[in-house]
Amino acid sequence: MEFDEIETIAVLGAGSMGHGIAEVAALAGYDVNLRDIKEEFVQNGYEQIEWSLEKLADKDQISQDEADAATDRVEPYVDIEAAVGEADFVIEAVPEKMEIKRDVYSDVEQHLPEGAIIASNTSSLSITDLSEETERPAGFCGMHFFNPPVRMQLVEVISGGHTDEATLDATEELAEAFGKTPVRVRKDSPGFIVNRILVPLMNEACWMVSADEATVKEVDSTTKFDIGLPMGAFELGDQVGNDVTYHVLEYMNDVLGEAYEPAPFLEETVEAEKHGKKTGEGFYDYE
Ligand code: CAA
Repeated sequence: MEFDEIETIAVLGAGSMGHGIAEVAALAGYDVNLRDIKEEFVQNGYEQIEWSLEKLADKDQISQDEADAATDRVEPYVDIEAAVGEADFVIEAVPEKMEIKRDVYSDVEQHLPEGAIIASNTSSLSITDLSEETERPAGFCGMHFFNPPVRMQLVEVISGGHTDEATLDATEELAEAFGKTPVRVRKDSPGFIVNRILVPLMNEACWMVSADEATVKEVDSTTKFDIGLPMGAFELGDQVGNDVTYHVLEYMNDVLGEAYEPAPFLEETVEAEKHGKKTGEGFYDYE
């Protein structure tokens, strides 16, 4: 698939990343099929897009006409055939479990046109391993957005062991058409580049709290006002989703070793289902 042949994009998974990616693609003028497994999930994702576009329009970051046009370009689906049957490019943003992704790819392959590209928004899983679960490993790559996608400039474009150059070029051009800055990640290593650096930072913050060496507020003051991150380490965890951070760490711990062991404080927070902003409570309370 050449970049200039891409017209319809299917985004699979309407959660915090999926709906944000769908919003970005629709703002860039693409027809977007947003798909999730339940009507309520896809509806919730659609409403989040409406909320975000309204917010951007209220702040004059886009016009009301642009917001309305982008909303109109997003079609919500539960049926997989309807979502991908005529898609040119699929962005998969389903939960970070190999079994779930495998099942989704198997369903997608039954209906997706030959030549269409599949890109995974995985935060850490191996692109090579994922591509081997599809029938098009050469046409498969990573396309990793950051939360919130509509505000974050970077997109990692990750080559798996089987990805061909044409797929990487088309994906990079698409990221640029979305108004983003792509960075090509040559090595398919756990966490790619950003999460390899950022997730251990968030974990280290949790280790300090676990050991009673610092409080959440003390760590956040330091990371925000001295190290210069736009959010404190714990604020960032709540933005990303503590369950996501935990899954990335579990995977890096498995593949790279014990330096990546999740801290008890993070584990307890995830076990209490305090996933961050999306659940109304994380390290901070958002209710
Ligand atoms: N759409 C529209 N508006 C949004 C929004 C969205 N998706 N998300 C937040 N906002 C709004 C908020 O509601 C808030 O609105 P109000 O001003 O009306 O209260 C406003 O944006 C917040 O804006 P601020 O002025 O307070 O902050 P900012 O504009 O300067 O920056 C930010 C916000 C861009 C999120 C910034 O804090 C930032 O860059 N944070 C770091 C985020 C980051 O690093 N993300 C990557 C994490 S790693 C990852 O995602 C990968 C992974 O695989 C785990």
